[in-house]
Amino acid sequence: METASFEHMVNGTPEDYELIGRAGAAHKAKHLADHILGTLQAMAGPLLGYQVDRFQHSLQSATRALRNGEDDEMVVAALLHDVGDPIAPENHSAVAADILRPYVSDRTHWIIRHHGLFQGYYYFHHVGGDRDGREVFRDHEWFDDCAAFCEEYDQNCFERNYDTMALEEFEPLVHALFARQSRFPLPQTTLV
Ligand SMILES: [Fe+2]
Ligand SMILES: [Fe+2]
Repeated sequence: METASFEHMVNGTPEDYELIGRAGAAHKAKHLADHILGTLQAMAGPLLGYQVDRFQHSLQSATRALRNGEDDEMVVAALLHDVGDPIAPENHSAVAADILRPYVSDRTHWIIRHHGLFQGYYYFHHVGGDRDGREVFRDHEWFDDCAAFCEEYDQNCFERNYDTMALEEFEPLVHALFARQSRFPLPQTTLV
């Protein structure tokens, strides 16, 4: 297999990075969506005290978004809003948002980034916190959108008997979203 010439990056060449760029792009095209879907599926099983597992919660969220007429981007965002949970339970909103970020609008990113805080309206007061913590963003242009996301596609998605759609029905949307041109294609525009 063809590899770059260097063992220390200080010795890298433009040709090395052309090769690495091609390899990375090919790998991403082939595997990214499936890796994310695999993480989503890793949430199946343990109820963690809820009446549905986190995988079913995610499917229920996406199903409700789709049935409410949301566009494909928001349906996928709903499906993946908790995908950070298996690897970053304390900051899962930020992880999920940044997974989506290169492929979605700033609005969608903001909604997913802040959904954990906004979702706190429904339970922070039960655990010694401030349910109105989200009020620091009251004047933000997407405050109402994030509040609506939580109300319609998150806090209500723990129903055991909801007519939830299967993952297979969402998979084409996930593959299409992660096949979009990244908003940050060049190194100098990559988020840091
Ligand atoms: Fe969440
Ligand atoms: Fe959630």
